[in-house]
Amino acid sequence: MSGVGGVSGGPPRSVRISGWGSYVPERVLSNADLERIVDTSDEWIRTRTGIRERRVAAPHETTATLGAIAAKRALAVAGLEPDDIDVIVVATLTPDYPMPSTAALVKEAIGNDTAAAFDIGAACSGFVFGYATADSYVRSGLARHVLVIGAELLTRFLDFEDRGTCILFGDGAGAVVLSASDEAGGGMSGLEMTTDPDGAYMIWLPSGGSRSPSSSETTSRGEHFIRMEGRETYRYATRTLAASALKAVEKAGWSPDEIDLVIPHQANVRIIEAVAKGLKLPMDRFFVNIDKYGNTSAASVGIALDEAVAEGRVKPGDKIVFAAFGAGFTSGAIALEWTADPADGARAASVEPVASVRAPLDWNSVDPMPPRLAAVLDDPDGPQVPLDDVVPGEPAHAHSED
Ligand code: COA
Repeated sequence: MSGVGGVSGGPPRSVRISGWGSYVPERVLSNADLERIVDTSDEWIRTRTGIRERRVAAPHETTATLGAIAAKRALAVAGLEPDDIDVIVVATLTPDYPMPSTAALVKEAIGNDTAAAFDIGAACSGFVFGYATADSYVRSGLARHVLVIGAELLTRFLDFEDRGTCILFGDGAGAVVLSASDEAGGGMSGLEMTTDPDGAYMIWLPSGGSRSPSSSETTSRGEHFIRMEGRETYRYATRTLAASALKAVEKAGWSPDEIDLVIPHQANVRIIEAVAKGLKLPMDRFFVNIDKYGNTSAASVGIALDEAVAEGRVKPGDKIVFAAFGAGFTSGAIALEWTADPADGARAASVEPVASVRAPLDWNSVDPMPPRLAAVLDDPDGPQVPLDDVVPGEPAHAHSED
């Protein structure tokens, strides 16, 4: 018997990462592309954020399909079958639908018949909060293997007329499998999580919830897009991220200079530099890949972990810190000791980057691509798109044929 509560034998001696994986869509959106959409410049974006490009999901992709590919890769690395997984946790702020959960769709896409599956909402801290949730199930003996996925398709929730937000975010997914181990030591030894509702409206998405259900009115006001107070969020992040990381490290009984690698949420390279200062650590102890993917919210720590392992930055016995912050405001940090063989990561190469979820039979779907974005992607070498011609809600592909 599998699933939550179906495990016999009681709590394990430790909870360890047994698999890891990520997936980013093929399509690259460069700063130069964005120069053709909003009034910005490559120089401004690079110097203020560290971002050079980000990825954009194809029209047939959804948050669940991105997450499922990362999940299949993590399973391959762990050497597990889909039905070995007892619980699937998806952290996302861009679910396929408000219901069912994206985790339910991922479960179907990876071919698991047994797991309990649910989403958690902690915005960009989602991977850390999801990891803590998964660790608790395994640590208590309620589950043996839990899949944690951070997956986001942010480009469909951005206002491509708002240069303060649309330059920051990208799409992708990262996953880990947490497994019960009979060996002592390793895994998470310090955890810190905070939520500060004073920041509730610093990053938010106004419509589509019980307070303001989606309607043509809310859509015409652009309330289906992410809004952000950049400066306030920046201030919060620089204050909180280092403090959270320090608390997790203290709880683990380590001193900051013992940390081998910090894998922070990738929101802004200047925020990461401020955290390095706060922890009095050199930047070479921080993993940074924001230049390639921008801010992928709940996916960012998982994607960064996968790349850090692939690049040889993580080895058994290393003291690793995950640290993230996000809307809520939330923040979280995990101090953990790495135990897996990095060479196992090569098994992910056998996983084709393909996943699909069933569509309802009576569904008359709209083109999901934001028109201003699609106009540039459809015509990568063309001049600046005549932006006034792009009608919100109308498929941009029609425009490119004009
Ligand atoms: N291109 C060019 N100029 C831009 C711009 C863009 N994409 N976005 C904003 N500007 C302009 C502003 O209009 C402003 O102009 P003004 O001085 O004439 O008014 C100027 O640049 C400075 O704006 P400001 O917002 O103070 O810039 P900043 O240095 O704070 O950088 C962010 C903006 C968004 C990069 C930064 O605040 C940030 O990273 N905040 C945290 C965001 C975050 O992490 N969010 C995710 C949380 S998980």
